[in-house]
Amino acid sequence: MTRIGVLTGGGDCPGLNAVIRAVVRKGITHYGDAFLGFRYGWAGVLEDNAIELTLEETSGLLPRGGTMLGSSRTNPYGTDDGPARIRATLEANELDALIPIGGEDTLGVARRLASEGVNVVGVPKTIDNDLNGTDFTFGFQTAVQIATDAIDRLHTTAESHNRVLVVEVMGRHAGWIATYAGMAGGADAILVPERPFDIDQVCDHLRRRHARGRSFSIVAVSEGAVPIDGTMELGDSGVTTDAFGHARLGGIAVALEREIEARTGFETRMTILGHVQRGGTPTAYDRVLATRFGVAAVDAVERREFGTMVALRGPEVRTVNLDEAVAEPKLLDPALYETAQVFFG
Ligand code: F6P
Repeated sequence: MTRIGVLTGGGDCPGLNAVIRAVVRKGITHYGDAFLGFRYGWAGVLEDNAIELTLEETSGLLPRGGTMLGSSRTNPYGTDDGPARIRATLEANELDALIPIGGEDTLGVARRLASEGVNVVGVPKTIDNDLNGTDFTFGFQTAVQIATDAIDRLHTTAESHNRVLVVEVMGRHAGWIATYAGMAGGADAILVPERPFDIDQVCDHLRRRHARGRSFSIVAVSEGAVPIDGTMELGDSGVTTDAFGHARLGGIAVALEREIEARTGFETRMTILGHVQRGGTPTAYDRVLATRFGVAAVDAVERREFGTMVALRGPEVRTVNLDEAVAEPKLLDPALYETAQVFFG
């Protein structure tokens, strides 16, 4: 019997509740474990704000979006006494281990705590799919489906009005969502953070396409995409940052709408999908992946494989070292982008 704390940190993501349900179900029924769920990510551990997670409390969660525990971007290493307060909460509640469910920031904290002797097993979460060590994170597939549905809808209105439609999707460091949804939705250009774009090339491409008789185009762009230095005015976005120092992104589509219309003369409109991509029920794939991750995390605690993260590697779910997961963001596979380019370059 192990006493385990669970928390969800960072941006929410479809499938978080499915992980919580799986962790609790496997832990209680197989190992007789007891669970505390911390509210609002690391903030709940710092403030010792937790609820007991029982089978009753976690039933019915599988299809539910968001996280029953709440989430935040609190960084315990942002204050001097953060790590000590975390240890104090773990001791006060006699917890043997923590299962933090999160992305690069939440798991970055987990890695530091692990190196200081705290027993952690992480679960990788982000719609951006930019965590190393795992082939996919849960939530990504749902976000791609939502973005693809949006592109399908934008296609018909673009065609009716002979417009260029720019659709901005999430993706801070990596263009996974833009590339998958762009490929699935048949976008005519895909702009990603990994490849600064040349606005002249983008416009030339749209002109060529329209000269071939097409009267509309779809441009899929990641929120983190940037133009090649000095090639395009972005305007003053008044950038703010979060507790981990990340800029609040969003708005590249506004600049693209203005530039494409001014340079090509094609009427252009933009749509920013934003948090729609993170909301609502997970796809079947993400429910299954989240469930597999949750079960594997409890099994890893049982085997005392601390300092690790559960991960999808090919068909298998296994553990990898947290260092491997959070050292660098997982950028887009160049081969995938080249395949996408066959349809627009
Ligand atoms: O990290 C996932 C993510 O969805 C990013 O793509 C995006 O930049 C960010 O979260 C938005 O975060 P917030 O909800 O805090 O504005």
